[in-house]
Amino acid sequence: MGPTFITLEGPDGSGKSTQAALLAEKLTEMGLSVLLTREPGGTPVGRRLREILLNPDVQLSVMTEVLLMAADRAQHVQEVIKPALENNMVVVCDRYVDSSLAYQGFGLLGDVSQVKAINEAAVEGVWPDLTILLDVEPEVGLRRHRQAASAAGRPSCSGRAGGLDRIEQRDLEFHQRVRDGYHVLSTLYAQRFVVIDTTGLEIETVAQIVWEAVEQRFKGDNR
Ligand code: TYD
Repeated sequence: MGPTFITLEGPDGSGKSTQAALLAEKLTEMGLSVLLTREPGGTPVGRRLREILLNPDVQLSVMTEVLLMAADRAQHVQEVIKPALENNMVVVCDRYVDSSLAYQGFGLLGDVSQVKAINEAAVEGVWPDLTILLDVEPEVGLRRHRQAASAAGRPSCSGRAGGLDRIEQRDLEFHQRVRDGYHVLSTLYAQRFVVIDTTGLEIETVAQIVWEAVEQRFKGDNR
């Protein structure tokens, strides 16, 4: 496997951070040079942007949110993703451009064209080779997320209702548009998307399906 860019996507609580970590571990065990990263917040500047973007006490206009997500991504591509791919690494990224298309495009604006145009400038041609969409119903995902947040002791004070961040706190209709938006993207970009319905599945089972998707995609690939 040569330089390879794999992204994990999905609604909140779909388990993608866990799966990204398991996938990176497995690829590393195979002797590959792997970089595990995430958005927003994959660089020092990005971590400052993440704090603004997810803080429930911060008021952002829709366009500011679109642009800050894209700014985080532009920095991430320049500083982390591009250099890693140039060094022949396998990059596993927990959320990328499809999160902006789904959340800001479908979720907030009801259309992806503007978000796509802005993000085309941010990604500089660096599109994923494979995008794994972990699908889950928003109700289930948010419930899972709330439970994980309270188990981790995330405070429910400072505006974080039930430990949810600024974006997670949006209403169910928003999260439904995001989820439906992901399905549209998976059809639009069918050549790089693999959709996994995680409903009722154990972490290990999902990890196995993710792994099969990766093997299938890069079988016989000698780049
Ligand atoms: P994430 O780090 O996956 O959440 P958590 O740490 O709670 O697992 O993502 C943070 C939130 O940011 C999530 O609700 C999705 C949102 N987001 C966007 O709205 N647009 C984007 O482009 C990205 C990368 C994330």
